[in-house]
Amino acid sequence: MKILFLNGPNLNLLGTREPDKYGHESLSDIENFIKDEAKKLNTEVDFYQSNIEGELVNKIQESKGKFDGIVINPAAYTHTSVAIRDAILAVEVPAVEIHLSNIHKREEFRKNSLIAPVCIGQITGFGANSYKLGLIAILDYLKNTKE
Ligand code: DQA
Repeated sequence: MKILFLNGPNLNLLGTREPDKYGHESLSDIENFIKDEAKKLNTEVDFYQSNIEGELVNKIQESKGKFDGIVINPAAYTHTSVAIRDAILAVEVPAVEIHLSNIHKREEFRKNSLIAPVCIGQITGFGANSYKLGLIAILDYLKNTKE
């Protein structure tokens, strides 16, 4: 299996960005953690981060035929991006939405996700473990749909 991890704006600042909300691990710490987990699960993973909406859209479009599934933390684009939502719908690559913080416990504007309705589901509030849970969720979904 090949899984693409996509990360939206400001996640390149993880580790120093509001650590009370997002933890002390950098995005590369999380990437290394996920690569170790993926190895144990015989899975290949690719990580990509961009602060630019269109670059995330391009990656989603390119994922068709290359990746079996997507795990996406759209960050602030969660709450605004019709373009990312439409890209996921267009490519029909199954996706899981993840967040470090619990978006339902925070400001009103964060409670709405434009992306979750086009994903298999949403994992939110488990810190870096949301990435691991996202990997387990997408692999479980793929196993059950490809059998
Ligand atoms: C986030 C939650 C979003 O609301 C926020 O804009 C982020 C990070 C999270 O992982 O908790 O940048 O996606």
